[in-house]
Amino acid sequence: MASTRPLQSLMKRMGTRNCSAVSKGILSSSEELMRLEYDCSAHNYHPIPMVFSQAKGSCVWDPEGHKYLDFLSAYSAVNQGHCHPKIIKALTEQAERLTLSSRAFYNDTFPILAERLTSLFGYEMMLPMNTGAEGVETALKLARKWGYEKKKIPKDEIRYVLIGVSFEQAIIVSCCGCFHGRTLAVISMSCDNDATRGFGPLLPGHLKVDFGDADALEKIFIAHGDRIAGFLFEPIQGEAGVILPPDGYLMSVRNLCSKYNILMIADEIQTGIARTGKMLACDWENIRPDVVILGKALGAGVIPVSAVLADKDVMLCIQPGEHGSTFGGNPLASAVAIAALDVIIDEELIQRASEMGQEFRHQLLKVQQQFPQIIKEVRGRGLLNAVELNSEVLSPVSAYDICLKLKDRGILAKPTHRTIIRLAPPLSISLEELHEAARALIDVLELDLPKMQKDMPKVVEETIPQACDRCGRQV
Ligand SMILES: Cc1ncc(COP(=O)(O)O)c(C=O)c1O
Repeated sequence: MASTRPLQSLMKRMGTRNCSAVSKGILSSSEELMRLEYDCSAHNYHPIPMVFSQAKGSCVWDPEGHKYLDFLSAYSAVNQGHCHPKIIKALTEQAERLTLSSRAFYNDTFPILAERLTSLFGYEMMLPMNTGAEGVETALKLARKWGYEKKKIPKDEIRYVLIGVSFEQAIIVSCCGCFHGRTLAVISMSCDNDATRGFGPLLPGHLKVDFGDADALEKIFIAHGDRIAGFLFEPIQGEAGVILPPDGYLMSVRNLCSKYNILMIADEIQTGIARTGKMLACDWENIRPDVVILGKALGAGVIPVSAVLADKDVMLCIQPGEHGSTFGGNPLASAVAIAALDVIIDEELIQRASEMGQEFRHQLLKVQQQFPQIIKEVRGRGLLNAVELNSEVLSPVSAYDICLKLKDRGILAKPTHRTIIRLAPPLSISLEELHEAARALIDVLELDLPKMQKDMPKVVEETIPQACDRCGRQV
């Protein structure tokens, strides 16, 4: 875990909250705003100390007017670029006309989105939600329901004298190192002990398998296949550090899921909507999952929109009243999502992500050649990329510290784990802006890193790696 010390010391320096400034609405400096958030909002994130005040395309400005390039894109939610004019126009026009009907009634925008999504992605039906985690929850419920109704997964019955108790036992298999969000059902599959400890009891009915290992998956399918409803996976593991599976893995998963009658559920929340240089990352192996979950860039970073895609055989297992959300399918989100998809197609962002991604990795590999001891690996697909640093050579500096220095040089990136920097700019980014990021990384490694290593107190590295509570693997 990255240290929280820099943030805490910054907050100490900034002093206590200025109540009169808050009430007069004149609080506007970055330091004041960070202080206020630290005082009044839960500390459930560890942000890089930079305040977004305005953004356009790949550029972001802080309240003091400093300009930065965004290499996180709100975890791939801003694929179309910040505040895209066509998407903002769709938002404002819709906002003036109708924002919410709830699905107690119909509205005249959501059906257009439903048709657009299903025809674009080639599925018979979609189910709208808001956040990514809700999309994943929906897919899990759908898989369980399908498991009992269509696959006929047994419900064990234990009969007592007066009551009968039925144990529903459908299993979902997910991958070690996965990230699917933060709700209770979803963290029940997580390998991140920080995300799960203290939040139990977790949901039963999950099995874990190594990501990228089709043989291990088949072993689990052979052992428990009659009770397994779905296999949930990310085609590229984003939060784990942009981990790509071996070539052919997705195809093997497709074949195994078909063979054992198990739903193949692709979480494309981070990888979908052109991010990896294809509309879906699963398109890299031309496979069609049974269930696809979309989120993030479906709302173009403007409004939360998520959706689950499946054919009728699966989707119609959910009946009226069994699942939903007040805001799911709202007209405002629908109008934004339609415009978000239009921009992806009209501006050829799939092709762009592919070409720019290749160029960016080429540049990053050149940086690696310059610093072969420090950079362990450059990897990624399209514009979802990561630079993995060598922890021993880097020590006591972490990837978080490197990101702080990148920020000082105008590049916004966020680490995953202690040694990995994810680089995922908006897909509209220019070649020159990619060069700027590569140059900033060179400067940080050449000029800032030696100073940081000299100045930072040596930390005693944890000698015992932690074992994941669920799969028992070292993390
Ligand atoms: C692959 C994946 N699934 C699900 C989620 C959860 O999405 P949200 O934060 O919108 O709930 C994320 C978020 O980072 C993600 O990367």
